[in-house]
Amino acid sequence: ENLEKGDFDHFMLKEIYEQPAAIQNCLRGRLNVEDLNLDLRAVRENLDTFKNASRIIIVSCGTSWHAGLVAEYWIEAMAGIPVEVEYASEFRYRQPVIKPTDVVIAISQSGETADTLAAMELAKSKGAFIFSICNVVGSSISREAHAGMYTHAGPEIGVASTKAFTTQLICLYMLSLELARANNEMEDFTYWNNLSELAVLDKAIEQVLSLNDEVKELARDYTESTNFMYLGRGYNFPIALEGALKLKEISYIHAEGYPAAEMKHGPIALIDENMPCMVLANCGAGRDKIISNMQEIRARKGEVIAIAFEGDTEIAESASHVLYIPKTNEMLSTIVANTILQLLAYHISVLKGCDVDQPRNLAKSVTVE
Ligand code: G6P
Repeated sequence: ENLEKGDFDHFMLKEIYEQPAAIQNCLRGRLNVEDLNLDLRAVRENLDTFKNASRIIIVSCGTSWHAGLVAEYWIEAMAGIPVEVEYASEFRYRQPVIKPTDVVIAISQSGETADTLAAMELAKSKGAFIFSICNVVGSSISREAHAGMYTHAGPEIGVASTKAFTTQLICLYMLSLELARANNEMEDFTYWNNLSELAVLDKAIEQVLSLNDEVKELARDYTESTNFMYLGRGYNFPIALEGALKLKEISYIHAEGYPAAEMKHGPIALIDENMPCMVLANCGAGRDKIISNMQEIRARKGEVIAIAFEGDTEIAESASHVLYIPKTNEMLSTIVANTILQLLAYHISVLKGCDVDQPRNLAKSVTVE
């Protein structure tokens, strides 16, 4: 096991650091950088089904569900196809309306999660087209689907999902772009721009990994915290959920993710000097609104750690600490910002002496109900 971990103390940290390579593996054979186009065979071969889809339903659990939530924003914004995202465990039992014109996307790292498998089987029995996004080649979900993509993240050992989530998002981003093109919703120039950014995303992640020491230092301030709030708007809202999940999974600190604007409908009542808030301020359109949320927290003595784009020095005026990430387009910046949240959860967990790779009560793959 120590050999497999190489220079790293834990699998989780190793897997966080493997993300640039995992992204490259996920893009290999799919993104053609010279001609700036994508070739997603499983999508190409079923293009009519996707084009004629009345809606897309995404079913998944845990971190994979968060990837689905991000994809809902991306697919609707880019391709104009209605998307619903469902917890597989709810979907399978709530007598959902499923039509043969529905496309169901099952997202699963392991490809073995019982609820996700059951949800897709239900949809399949109602005539829907099933598309899988899995990491484990030959897994049950990938075999049950009509078509699918593998994330090619390589084996993920740490129970808390990191590189698998990142590559799920890469697959979903490529899928969104292809569907946008198929539906004539995206101009050439925008498409090429997106692909150029995707091609260098691994470099942005590498740059963020160089913040590891800064994040570790910051983590020291929060080992005694018992609560944490994560806030984000738009594409960053699901990342707030994922950041909070990561922290609670491995450090056992209670954490909640919320859409920043919902704060005033309840969570703001919780804010005081003992409620650190991680704010995803790496955004374009909603930036001013995020800044006012940060000010509202500060006015109630809450501590704000912000993630912002390099150069956005104004954010520092309303935060106790800012972690700067390289500028990418807003959609892809979710992946970059999430890397910071992974590192923060990791370091808090290590400093608290928790079992990072095998957190209590959790299993890597949940094959029973
Ligand atoms: C478990 C794991 C999570 C994972 C979830 C869904 O709860 O601990 O990390 O996100 O299952 O797993 P899947 O393999 O379907 O993505």
